[in-house]
Amino acid sequence: KKISIVGVPMDLGQVRRGVDMGPSAMRYAGLLEELKSQGFEVVDYGDIPIHRSTNGTNQEQKLRNLQEVIKVSEELCTELDKAINKGGFPLVLGGDHSISIGSIAGISKHYKRLGVIWYDAHADLNTAETSPSGNIHGMPLAINLGLGHKLLTKIGGYIPKLKPENIVIIGARSIDEGERKLIKEKGIKVFTMHEIDRRGMTAVMEDTIHYLSDRTDGVHLSFDLDAIDPIYAPGVGTPVLGGVTYRESHLAMEMLAESEIVTSAEFVEVNPILDHKNKTADIAIELVASLLGKQLL
Ligand code: ARG
Ligand code: MN
Ligand code: MN
Ligand code: MN
Repeated sequence: KKISIVGVPMDLGQVRRGVDMGPSAMRYAGLLEELKSQGFEVVDYGDIPIHRSTNGTNQEQKLRNLQEVIKVSEELCTELDKAINKGGFPLVLGGDHSISIGSIAGISKHYKRLGVIWYDAHADLNTAETSPSGNIHGMPLAINLGLGHKLLTKIGGYIPKLKPENIVIIGARSIDEGERKLIKEKGIKVFTMHEIDRRGMTAVMEDTIHYLSDRTDGVHLSFDLDAIDPIYAPGVGTPVLGGVTYRESHLAMEMLAESEIVTSAEFVEVNPILDHKNKTADIAIELVASLLGKQLL
């Protein structure tokens, strides 16, 4: 089996520098070696170029760095579309979570009913109107639903990329008022930390897998490392206490591997500047390995 890696050293979807080094940190942690040792053919397409404007931060305060994010999203969309046509499992390395605008735009073209697992402390369902920060990394799931600035929702030339009933959010514990409204209004399935605590990760993943395999023809895993508790994964820009444990996440990936429903994945928000000895990237690599079927025996 072939794995196609695309890096997106993007940090313009938020304000903390360092997340642009995420792809390097994950490669440095031994991603390619790990996948090759598992017997995969690995093709690394390298990194999408990030264009920084010379006049610093954006004019449009409600959508920080809007023009730059549009440009990168279009390029990522095109690159992934091409990579998928050449075959192989697409594995995208972030970068902040705004990269999901371009990645899902490129991937969803290949599916009639793409499902998404949004493994995240946040819902990333803000629009310019509801965002408390103006940071685009808090908006990609809304954008993919066709909600938000037209220049972002139309990336890749079609709207929307996802249907609300094909989304499952796992690990949420920081949801803004506008996001809460949208979740209720659209009936988006969310397993918050409350459900994980109460029913356990096994039940949550069984439900997720059953729910998505019934209604989708492909599933993209969008894994924000801030879903994991900052005790284990401190190298993220927006840490939130009370997260998923390392073991629970490991189990979640193993159950996904067993189910064989996942057709593409991305690991985002790894920020080595905020990390301790690259441990967040190390965890990301172990989770990738489990997702792709690594077993002890
Ligand atoms: N909800 C907050 C916002 O809109 C935080 C979003 C964090 N997103 C992320 N991908 N880490 O600004
Ligand atoms: Mn996120
Ligand atoms: Mn997050
Ligand atoms: Mn294990």
